[in-house]
Amino acid sequence: MTRIVLFENIHPSAKEVFVAAGFNDVVTHASALSPDELNDALRGASLVGIRSRTHLDAALLADAPDLRAVGCFCIGTNQVDLDAAMLRGVPVFNAPFSNTRSVAELVLGEAILLLRRIPEKNARVHQGYWDKTAEGAFEARGKTLGIIGYGNIGSQVGTLAEAAGMRVLFHDIEAKLPLGNVRASAALKRLLGQSDVVTLHVPGGKATKNIMDAVTIAAMKPGAILINASRGSVVDIDALHAALLSGHLSGAALDVFPVEPKSVNEPLVSPLIGMQNVILTPHIGGSTQESQENIGREVAEKLVRYILSGTTKGAVNFPEIPYQEVAGTGRILHVHRNLPGAMGTLSNLMAEHGLNIVSQQLQTRGQIGYVISDVEGNVNDTVMSALRTHPITVRCDLV
Ligand code: NAI
Repeated sequence: MTRIVLFENIHPSAKEVFVAAGFNDVVTHASALSPDELNDALRGASLVGIRSRTHLDAALLADAPDLRAVGCFCIGTNQVDLDAAMLRGVPVFNAPFSNTRSVAELVLGEAILLLRRIPEKNARVHQGYWDKTAEGAFEARGKTLGIIGYGNIGSQVGTLAEAAGMRVLFHDIEAKLPLGNVRASAALKRLLGQSDVVTLHVPGGKATKNIMDAVTIAAMKPGAILINASRGSVVDIDALHAALLSGHLSGAALDVFPVEPKSVNEPLVSPLIGMQNVILTPHIGGSTQESQENIGREVAEKLVRYILSGTTKGAVNFPEIPYQEVAGTGRILHVHRNLPGAMGTLSNLMAEHGLNIVSQQLQTRGQIGYVISDVEGNVNDTVMSALRTHPITVRCDLV
């Protein structure tokens, strides 16, 4: 029986996928559990679904010998000891694309609101002023949007912005196929000098830290708008603050911050608080009902595909083997230490037990190798036990 345990109120779309695939033993928990409770809950679980608050460290993974795969029903996977999971033959999956559209829609919406100075106008009406001036208010149509980082989100933003009549430029460190009429800008400075709205969609990390600092912000068009819904580290907030105060930039929208509050009661600390031409949101770019539902489905489908066919496409810590139809009378999933001769050993073990290999796929990653073997013959307990107990074996399962 494949027991599936889901923590942290994962969207019901996940359970629907499991049940539709014939996995009915699904236990759900509304929240994250304490380490002791988690330890108990993991016992006997074949598949586990978590979000960001459940930490699966090496000790917990070692104490869950039945665990075959982990689904992170979110983008990040830092909460799992990925190497420890890999060394136990446990692939970890996540949902890198499920909230792409949600972020892209927010960015386009903010660009339009800021071009029209709606945040300030909204605040003025709330304060009792009926100021109907058109000064400083512009249509999005015909304006230029500059996208820094033309990956999943950046390219979606470009598509939406073109539909609203904007000219779109992008700058990326990799060569990317432009969608629609979007144009690549090899030089960041050129993009900054041409764009009425600049939006950032790069990863975090050292290479992108403060991409927007005093120098690059100064290179933006006077009166331009800056939007950041990527990572808090990519914009120098003091430099942005100074550019907004001086009027060099007319507005900004930030969904991410260098230091973000850890709970609902902890306030954000930022010099931008109180500025009426700045939209501040609490890192909710990807948080919509649709994205939660998509995440539930996307990760559950990856887990089901792994259990039913051994496919590890999209695993973040594991050799990736794409889907192939099952051939032969049985499919054996074998994870081994990545050492010379491992394949020979595996093939010999199968031959010794009368199994003929119909097809075999191998991928290695770091210290482990992963082989999917479709075989003809009687895949009984004796052969599975021989495979499982061999010194090269990390883990071995039958589909
Ligand atoms: P992605 O990996 O698909 O795209 C990132 C792009 O940035 C790639 O094309 C890459 O080549 C490019 N890039 C990397 N370094 C660059 C540099 N120095 N200059 C120019 N381009 C560079 O990532 P995706 O899915 O589009 O996510 C983008 C960002 O959005 C990430 O930082 C992610 O963490 C963040 N994000 C924020 C959310 C929110 O709620 N606000 C939700 C989801 C993602």
